[in-house]
This record gives sequence, structure tokens and C-alpha cells, in this order.
Amino acid sequence: MRITIFGTGYVGLVSGACLADAGHHVVCVDVDENKVARLREGHIPIYEPGLEPIVHHNVEAGRLSFTTDADEAVAHGELQFIAVGTPPDEDGSADLQYVLAVARTIGSRMEDYRVIIDKSTVPVGTADKVAVAVQEELDKRGKKLDFDVVSNPEFLKEGAAVNDFMKPDRIIVGVESDRAKELLREAYYPFNRNHERMIYMDVRSAELTKYAANAMLATKISFMNEIANLAERLGADVEHIRRGIGSDPRIGYHFIYPGCGYGGSCFPKDVKALARAARAIDYEARLLDAVEDVNDAQKHVLFDKLNHHFKGDLKGKTIALWGLAFKPNTDDMREAPSRTVMESIWKAGGQVQAFDPEAMEETQRIYGDQAGLHLCGTKEQALKNADALVICTEWKEFRSPDFELIAKNLSHPVVFDGRNLYEPEMLTRRGLTYYAIGRGLNQFQK
Ligand code: UDX
Repeated sequence: MRITIFGTGYVGLVSGACLADAGHHVVCVDVDENKVARLREGHIPIYEPGLEPIVHHNVEAGRLSFTTDADEAVAHGELQFIAVGTPPDEDGSADLQYVLAVARTIGSRMEDYRVIIDKSTVPVGTADKVAVAVQEELDKRGKKLDFDVVSNPEFLKEGAAVNDFMKPDRIIVGVESDRAKELLREAYYPFNRNHERMIYMDVRSAELTKYAANAMLATKISFMNEIANLAERLGADVEHIRRGIGSDPRIGYHFIYPGCGYGGSCFPKDVKALARAARAIDYEARLLDAVEDVNDAQKHVLFDKLNHHFKGDLKGKTIALWGLAFKPNTDDMREAPSRTVMESIWKAGGQVQAFDPEAMEETQRIYGDQAGLHLCGTKEQALKNADALVICTEWKEFRSPDFELIAKNLSHPVVFDGRNLYEPEMLTRRGLTYYAIGRGLNQFQK
């Protein structure tokens, strides 16, 4: 099939590459000339395991190409996916200007039936707005053409995006025409062969399904972080509690890991957008507001522990920080808890020596020559002459570090672990003071 994808961000690029890999002919279009030029040269703008080889392979096979030419893009695909950004505007609502601009691009150029598919996470009712925008452009040109607007939200996780697309748990399709439904079935057939993963529904339900999924997962995390904070104050260990409740299949082990807060491009934005959308229709989404509040507070927990340990005096202190990305296997720093920690340390007059296996360039891009930030080439270098160690991301290489080296390097042998990576005894045995999340506050302090 011929497929066009607007937007070469995370969702657009992964979807385009995977659909091409399944044999479709895919054109990815972006307004950013520089990005398209780099993609044509084979440069992948994001770090995502497994993405680069399939992009290269399918470009070479002639099934995947990149363009800024909207005429070519609209002429190419019977299926036109919209995978552009929906950044939060000032009040946290999703900003639809890019989605609607693509709708107008399609409406002003199409010469034949087109299925327009919203793949970006968009508020309920967006498909209707897309349909209006397309129709307005057709009317301006005096064209009478059929088209359908479908909602097909994407559930991929950063760091596992290719696998998530190739082996999806489910493919949600909000569609109200048989013609479009058949075309979607055909497009996804390669990913749906072994068992039925397509779930068809009306467009509005599909739009809300995406928000509901992310809000549910964010709720699990905030709930667990609240239990962790309670456990800490009550002298209990949240790691026991996690296993204790996860064993109930109705609760399950997934997404109940307490930590220093959720980040990334989806949970913070989507929880906020859904809460704002609720408010706009005079419904107060109290649970969603609380999920967001708990997370905002959780991002400060590591700094609060650090500040408390140093009795409010971080001036002139140097803190080693391991893990900048919002989670492992990505270089994405959007809403990363590390940023809250670093910014709080700077505000308190401290210095940060930071290391991340992938997000160094991204940190440099965001913070430039920020005073008090020193980027280090290895995790060991970050420890040199530091006063304490803070860990924000559970990268594999942080899981069994040389504790003796840590103890030797730090002027105050203390570790603040935002991801509960270690058994407390491993550290206390080596003379390290260990602060984790939700693990009985007074247990491991000297
Ligand atoms: C998420 C959804 O998982 C995905 O389905 C959706 O399409 C986009 O949003 P992503 O943002 O890539 O994906 O990351 P995810 O692995 O879900 O983690 C999100 C955040 O939650 C991370 O900061 C992670 O550290 C945190 N998290 C996750 C926890 O703190 N505890 C957990 O138990 C799980």
C-alpha cells in the first residue's frame, strides 16, 4: 500500500519505518528542511534501539523516503497519517495547530479519496475538527471528494518503540466507515497475522482510549509513590509492599515501581491535557489532578532528602548525578526528574557533575553553558571530588557499580537513589549512607 506520514518525530518516524519494513511504500513528510535533509543522509534524530537499521534498510530498498514536498506527500498515499506534535499550550491543553495545519494541507491538495488518520495523541473531538478543516479546503477549491477521518492512537514506549510497533498489544482503530476500516485492516495486516489485535470502535472512544491508558498508568505510578512516602514515614519498606500487592493478578507487577517521579513526553502532558479537557466541560477530574500533584511533588523528593542530609547547606557542594534521561534506553530529557534535581541544586548554590550513557548531547543542548553543570564522560569521572551521589535513571550500567570506588571518591559517603536499584545492605556494608524511595527512612542512615 502507499502510505504518507506527516511528522518525523518519535511516532511518525517509528511508524513510517515499521510500515515500510512490512512492505508498504511510505513517504514521511516534515516541514523541517534540515531534519529531512539529515534523514535523507541516514541520520536518525533520536536514539531508539533498532530504529536506525530498519530506516536504512527500507530507504535502500526504496520503500521509505523523506520529503518536505506536501504536493508529493498528499498525492502519494491513500492513507495519510498525521503524527505531528500536540504540545501543551499555556494551560496544559493540547495545542492542535500542527494537526489542523496538516488537515488543511491535505484538503487543499487531495485529488482522490483519502483516509486521514490521527496518530498523534489528540483530545476527544479532534477528528471532527480535522474533518471540518479538510472539508473547508475542499469547498474553497469547489471539489467534491470523499474522505474519512480515523483515530488510530499509538501506544509505543520510548526505548522499546520498534518492538511495540511490530508486536503491538492492541491496535486501536476508531472508524465509522467500512471503506476506511478495510484499508486500515490491510495496512496493519502484517502486524496482526497471528492473532487479532485490532480493536474497532467509534472515533471518540478511540481518542479517549489513548488518554485513559496513559492516565491509568500514571495513576499506578503516583499511587505507588504515595504509598512509598507513607512507608518511609511509617518505617515500612515499599519494595516488600510492591511485591506483596503485585502478586495479586488484579493488581499485577507492572508499573508499580516507586521512584523520583514519571517524566517523558506522554504521561505528564496527557494527564494534564485530560484534566484540562475535563475542566473545559465543567467536570472536575479530581483523581487526575491528584495524580499530577503527587508526581510534581515526587520530583522534589530526591532533592529534599539531599538538602535535609546536608542540613540545608548545599552551597559550594558538588553532587555527582547518574542518569539524566527520563528513563533508560532513551536520550529523551522531556520532564525528566533529573532536571528538577539539578535545577534545585543550582538554586541552592551547588554544582552538578552529571553522566548519562545517552543523554549527554541532549543535556548540553538544553542547558548549554549553565553555571554549575559539568558533564562527565563516565560515571566514575562524575564521582571525582564529589560530595554525594544522586541517581535519577535506572540504566543497566548503574545496577552493580563499584561501591568501594563510590565510597572512596565521595567526601560524604552518601547515595540518594531515585530508582531503588540496590539492596541497602550492599551499601551500608561499605560504609555508605543510603537513601532510597519509600524504604523506611531511618533504616539505613548511619
Ligand atoms: C508511555 C506509555 O508507556 C506508552 O504506552 C505511551 O504510548 C507513551 O507513554 P514512555 O513515556 O515512553 O511511554 O515511557 P514509560 O516506560 O511508560 O515510562 C514513563 C515514566 O514512568 C518514566 O519516567 C518511568 O521512569 C516512570 N515509571 C514507569 C515509574 O516511575 N514507575 C513505573 O513502575 C513505571
